[in-house]
Amino acid sequence: MKPLSVMDYERLAEQRLDANASAYVFGGSGDEITLADNVAAFQRRKFRPRVLVDVSQVSTATTVLGTPIALPVIVAPVAIQRLAHQLGEEATARAAAAADTIMCLSSAATCRPGELRNGKRWFQVYVWNTRAKTEAAIEEAVAAGYAALVLTVDVPYLGRRERDIRVGFKVPEQLRVEGELFGSGFDATMTWRDIEWLRQYGLPVVIKGIMTGEDAEIACEHGAAAVVVSNHGGRQLDGVPASIDVLEEVVEAVRGRAEVLMDGGIRRGGDVVKALALGARAVMIGRAMLYGLAAAGEAGVADVLRILQEEIRLTFALLGSTSPAGVTRAHVR
Ligand SMILES: Cc1cc2nc3c(=O)[nH]c(=O)nc-3n(C[C@H](O)[C@H](O)[C@H](O)COP(=O)(O)O)c2cc1C
Repeated sequence: MKPLSVMDYERLAEQRLDANASAYVFGGSGDEITLADNVAAFQRRKFRPRVLVDVSQVSTATTVLGTPIALPVIVAPVAIQRLAHQLGEEATARAAAAADTIMCLSSAATCRPGELRNGKRWFQVYVWNTRAKTEAAIEEAVAAGYAALVLTVDVPYLGRRERDIRVGFKVPEQLRVEGELFGSGFDATMTWRDIEWLRQYGLPVVIKGIMTGEDAEIACEHGAAAVVVSNHGGRQLDGVPASIDVLEEVVEAVRGRAEVLMDGGIRRGGDVVKALALGARAVMIGRAMLYGLAAAGEAGVADVLRILQEEIRLTFALLGSTSPAGVTRAHVR
């Protein structure tokens, strides 16, 4: 049966992936309370539709950091994509480029930044204990024309993911993962001062993993071009709120000084529209993309992006808005 929704792709991914890959893709940390709440919180939010608006022409296009994208959905940085499909990041990048949106490549990818040549690309930065390794990857991304550096700030250590521990998660032998995800690890000495170091590369710096107004304020003071409200898809500190429930607090603290993105729990176009109404410029999708990738490679990711775009378009119309800019705080409760 042809998949109609992200959840259809989720079921296909469940069938395709072995126990090892499933644990890594589907799992969260601790009791997985934040993981579940990311999805549940979207279901708690309700729309306030306005009627008798001319919605004969509806556009999903917007810009993020000045880059035009066809829909307010960006591909989140997700590690080890060859675990989900043999073509991994290369397949995802092609699908994102075809959909005319941005792909953010992980620092722990199964390809080097220089190997992705097409499309609008951002590079996600993990700062490894071997700083030279981080710097070499950033330099390669800058040289390859990536447009922004996304510093992930919620991983001084990996969260404790019990599904991974139970299956004894292992990167399959034939895969080579960039960086030191499971090696000597993350530089836990990182502080706000290191933002100045990252800004020296001359690209806009996006800070991913902001969960309070206080940290959003400090990020702006350090010149962040954007912040991503994110709890890492429920994979880091369990017990934090759903990202969508923190979004407004961050938007208020930022006061227009930076763009605000969010991720966590996006499974429907309606979720994207709720995030826009609460002040996000765009959202990132992690698992929704991975489900498509695991089920059908490039075509699966392309179809997930197409499904989300169609759902966003219809939600705009039924809500009485003709574009992302037309969605306001009054459209959700
Ligand atoms: C399997 C997997 C791997 C991930 N790898 C990374 C990563 O390498 N870097 C990063 O910043 N975030 C990583 N994330 C987090 C995503 O960027 C994103 O924050 C999260 O997936 C959003 O939640 P969602 O999966 O509900 O869309 C990963 C998430 C998953 C599910």
